[in-house]
Amino acid sequence: MNAEHRRLRTRVAVIGAGPAGLMLSHLLSLSGIDSVVIDLRERADIETTVRAGILEQGTVDLMTGTGVGERALSEGQCHGGIGIRSRGETRRIDLSGLTGRSVHLYPQHEVLKDLIAARLAAGGDLRFGVSGVSVHDVTTDTPSVRFTDADGTRVELSCAVVAGCDGSRGVSRSAVPESVRTDYFRAYEHGWFGILTEAPPSSDELVYTHSERGFALISSRTPSVQRMYFQCDPAEDAQAWSDDRIWTELRTRVNGNGFELREGPIIQRGVIPMRSRVLAPMGHGRLLLAGDAAHVVPPTGAKGLNLAVADAAVLCQALERFFHRGSADLLAAYGRTAADRAWRAQHFSWWMTSMLHTAADGDPFGLRRQLAEIDQVTGSRAGRTFLAEAYTGWPIPVTDPASAIADVITASASRTP
Ligand code: PHB
Repeated sequence: MNAEHRRLRTRVAVIGAGPAGLMLSHLLSLSGIDSVVIDLRERADIETTVRAGILEQGTVDLMTGTGVGERALSEGQCHGGIGIRSRGETRRIDLSGLTGRSVHLYPQHEVLKDLIAARLAAGGDLRFGVSGVSVHDVTTDTPSVRFTDADGTRVELSCAVVAGCDGSRGVSRSAVPESVRTDYFRAYEHGWFGILTEAPPSSDELVYTHSERGFALISSRTPSVQRMYFQCDPAEDAQAWSDDRIWTELRTRVNGNGFELREGPIIQRGVIPMRSRVLAPMGHGRLLLAGDAAHVVPPTGAKGLNLAVADAAVLCQALERFFHRGSADLLAAYGRTAADRAWRAQHFSWWMTSMLHTAADGDPFGLRRQLAEIDQVTGSRAGRTFLAEAYTGWPIPVTDPASAIADVITASASRTP
């Protein structure tokens, strides 16, 4: 080791203070397993960057059951249904009536604020604004992570396990050698043009809209700030659009038959690319990947954050077994267990995307096929139930019944209509 490094030791080195990394560190601390979390970004960036906003039932239950769900419950909004709108008509999917489960509208950066606050209150070691992160010796029992702390000190963090939670562009995923990894990837021809507007809600529940001009989604943030998206070319320059042009586009896709968007000043805008990606295996030796480092979904199914949280819960159980009972069996199985759930989410997000987004060339056959599909899905109880089960989220796997979080997950999974 380089003599200039300050040496630190922990059991789990967590790279990335996003939903996967922070949730993992939080869950581990409840089981008495210490971790150090590092992130290239500053805390203020993490706590203010606007991302998605839908929490599955299992995510909410895991947060509340482990002491970090208070604000999600009091400040978030519980939604028992969503609307699928096409040809000027909104058809409601009764999520809670069909599944006993609902979703919560509570922005991702608020979840991150809650997790950071909980970790700091518990004396957790979180390091923001680090640089020069590298991962070493993951095929040995003594891996390490090296980085430069915000104050310029070089650090060598020795650990037993590295959790790679640093997203799709982080160093962790590239620490899985190309010779052993398969990158399943799909880029979509669409992007999402997302806005925040200062306006009252246009609808009590989210509205996913199919129109000949393309998809639009009406979501919300607070009673006075709304989140909306519409399908666009991924190369679109959001800054080149006037407010007027944006509202005209949204109105054309969504308004009609008595439904009218409530408009206001647009306070933020941006274009989001749509991609599907799954990395296999989800780790290498003592490096385990979680969240976007392992898989990316298009935003249509609102699955990204929820998948990250489910990964953290599955990985936490594997690590509890490893540290408390000396068995590495669940660590070895982690990638498969997490990937099974990730592929379901991958399918659901792809399916919602393909049902609701129109092809750039208009494709009259495709358009009619989509209308038939929307009719079938919304017009039958089986179709609505399929959508509702996927949207509210599949149960998080209980792999170790002795885990500190097993009861919370089991109680969540046993909800019935
Ligand atoms: C959001 O509110 O940002 C949101 C909601 C549902 C989605 C995607 C994004 O499917």
